[in-house]
Amino acid sequence: MTAPAGPPPPRAVVFDAYGTLFDIARPTARLAERIGPVADRLGALWRTLQLEYTWLLTLMGRYRPFDVVTADALQVAMAECGVGDAGLAADLLAVYDRLDAFADAAPGLAAIAEGGLPRVILSNGTPAMLAGAVSAAGLGGMIDDILSADQVRLYKPRAEVYQLAVDRLGLPADAIAFVSSNGWDIAGATAFGFRPIWLNRAGRPADRLGLPAPPEITTLDALSDLLLPDGR
Ligand code: 2OP
Repeated sequence: MTAPAGPPPPRAVVFDAYGTLFDIARPTARLAERIGPVADRLGALWRTLQLEYTWLLTLMGRYRPFDVVTADALQVAMAECGVGDAGLAADLLAVYDRLDAFADAAPGLAAIAEGGLPRVILSNGTPAMLAGAVSAAGLGGMIDDILSADQVRLYKPRAEVYQLAVDRLGLPADAIAFVSSNGWDIAGATAFGFRPIWLNRAGRPADRLGLPAPPEITTLDALSDLLLPDGR
């Protein structure tokens, strides 16, 4: 008797950008001496506010582009942390515009490319931010397409944003693997119908939103084993 067939392998892989491919801790780490002892707190608060603003704007039916949201969140985080220096804010944003990729991003993407699966970025970032980040990190040759929430002026986890990938790839959602380090994004992708893979870089506990638990990896090096039939 043969084993029951599992789901067919996915036919494309969609990646979140910030925190998944690009290391968002870099700006405050690189300028930590100028920031002082609150550098880690500032970095974490900046990210938290940035995400909260995207959710609030979308819930309110409003839109401000992600570069504006990112700059605004930084101003508020700096005020909260008692760091007040316009030059520092500009320098942090300049690093954010040219983030490094995580060390596992290029090999992880290359392995998926060798397996013949299209690779697409789907992010809240503006098209200009994402094109700049991909180019600065040297990932251009490994990404087939870049999709931005800016195209629908809504933020993830709204379904309209995930639908961009379905429309561009011409594939049903359940034929698309979606990789993100962000638990909230994985929840949105699961609810949408993608095949989610949680890149749990920080070893966080799973969120509880009544959704099926996604497969988890801790580095992108493990992605090809999970997605390609012979683990190429
Ligand atoms: C993204 O890249 C904000 O990490 C989130 O869409």
